[in-house]
Amino acid sequence: MKKKKILNPIKITKPTPIEELKNFGRKIKVFLKRDDLNGLLISGNKIRKLEYLIADARNKKCDTIITCGAAQSNHCRTTIAFCKILGYDCHLFLRTKDKPEYTGNLLLDELLGATIRFITPEEYQNRMEIMADYAKSLKGKKAYIIPEGGSNEIGALGYVDCMREMAGFIKKEKVEAVYCAVGSGGTYSGLLLGKKLLQVPVELNGVIVCDTIEYFTNKILEICTRAIDKFNFKIKVDVPDINLIDGFVGEGYGIPYPEEIETIKMLAKKGILLEPVYTGKAFYGMLKDMEKRRYKKVLFIHTGGIFSIFAYARDLI
Ligand SMILES: Cc1ncc(COP(=O)(O)O)c(C=O)c1O
Repeated sequence: MKKKKILNPIKITKPTPIEELKNFGRKIKVFLKRDDLNGLLISGNKIRKLEYLIADARNKKCDTIITCGAAQSNHCRTTIAFCKILGYDCHLFLRTKDKPEYTGNLLLDELLGATIRFITPEEYQNRMEIMADYAKSLKGKKAYIIPEGGSNEIGALGYVDCMREMAGFIKKEKVEAVYCAVGSGGTYSGLLLGKKLLQVPVELNGVIVCDTIEYFTNKILEICTRAIDKFNFKIKVDVPDINLIDGFVGEGYGIPYPEEIETIKMLAKKGILLEPVYTGKAFYGMLKDMEKRRYKKVLFIHTGGIFSIFAYARDLI
């Protein structure tokens, strides 16, 4: 069977800058890939995945997007913002235990005009079936379902692009390691595919912010294997290529802890805003991990997510 060529994305963002973290006061140089500044409503990492996923939806002549996530999902907020630009309908299935507060991303989802359905954590286990049934119920519409976090072999292509943007810098500056948050695995998968495709000599360290190393190793392997197969990439990805760091989840997804909050406050004083769900845990995890390594230069991917800080005001002050 003929393999598919790589998809043409709907590019609405520009390459993001790489900056050195100034006044850091440590021997190691830390650079930031400022994906938090990228074009669409300062979206963060999700837009890169959606540039490919929504291109796929458009190729399939879909006019409606359905996706899911936590009530404060950055991915869901970015999806509705992207849909508004293209004039697509957008339906969100948001996971919540209690009645959620309309703040942060959820407030934006509502303002941007998403159709929102709240589901319990138990129902969320069957999210793909729930979304598929719902898609069938939308008469006269052709729906495209995007999985949690936009993390599949198509969404991951967005982070191949990110690695392409960083490859020259990494080689020139001799950056030894790239760190990122791992929340649904797509960002890490794309970076890993990009590293292999472009032969970038750098270690790729993902700090998990939920679930387990085993869960993410399998998920990343699956996303990479599907991408290699679908797009006929001439590379191999195996378990030893996947370098994940545990120990920074705390009590669970979206639950901050004191060291993380201190890290967020420290960075805020340097003009960089992290948030408690992903980048706060990942940056703190990077600082602790670096103590065990001999790196001189590292690069942290700032994957954005700024709006969720408003939902954590009580933890942050
Ligand atoms: C701000 C932010 N950073 C990092 C991540 C993690 O990326 P991924 O889901 O691709 O692992 C996410 C989403 O999960 C996010 O919203």
